Amino acid sequence: MRNIVKVIVVAIVLGIGLTAFFFTRKSETQTLNPLKTPENVLDATREIAGYKDWTKVNQTPERVESRLSALCARPTQAQIERDAKNPHNDKFITVYVNAIGKDAMMTKKLPKFPVGTVIVKEKLTTAESTEPELLTVMIKREKNYNPMVGDWEFLTFNGAGTETTARGKLENCQSCHLAEKSTDYVSRKGYLPVEIWRKLK
Ligand code: HEC
Repeated sequence: MRNIVKVIVVAIVLGIGLTAFFFTRKSETQTLNPLKTPENVLDATREIAGYKDWTKVNQTPERVESRLSALCARPTQAQIERDAKNPHNDKFITVYVNAIGKDAMMTKKLPKFPVGTVIVKEKLTTAESTEPELLTVMIKREKNYNPMVGDWEFLTFNGAGTETTARGKLENCQSCHLAEKSTDYVSRKGYLPVEIWRKLK
């Protein structure tokens, strides 16, 4: 009889223990695995890994106006002050697109970029720079991720692409790209080669 009581007590204690274990484990994996809400995790370096092997939209770095390139890259206060002092401090860009977005980028007059498209824009100090100063990136997420701006996520990285410095529905990026609604919020201005512009259908 005593043994039965012991067995029951042990079973109850074990049951409570196991339930508590699985319960806390579940809530832990929920906070550690937020794949569905990408803005909860800062690191997105895997999503741009190997981008230099993707389609290079412009073969040589294109010059863009310094003030604009600063705005398109979340400048630091020091950069803003430096640029303000030197209005001729132009920047250069090279843009890459992954295989999913290549067709829309290179052949469509009014593109609709497929989910999974990744566009990487390198910001370079000079036309000869081999290492970018920083990267700005757009990733096409699943429908309804960010309906106001074509479900794009906006990201910034250090030049080597080893550190994500910002990501999500970044207000300062969207404000400008909203103006490009007819081309799915992608500008292509200043870098898409003229001969490719002409052939867009
Ligand atoms: C001042 C307006 C402006 C702001 C703000 C801006 N962009 Fe841009 N973006 C542009 C323009 C114009 C282009 C075309 C290329 C160029 O001039 O750099 C562009 C191009 C891009 C491209 C290449 C794809 C395309 O649209 O042609 C990416 C990626 C990009 N921007 C990401 C960002 C991110 C990320 C931010 C926020 C950190 C941002 N942009 C903020 C104006 C802006």
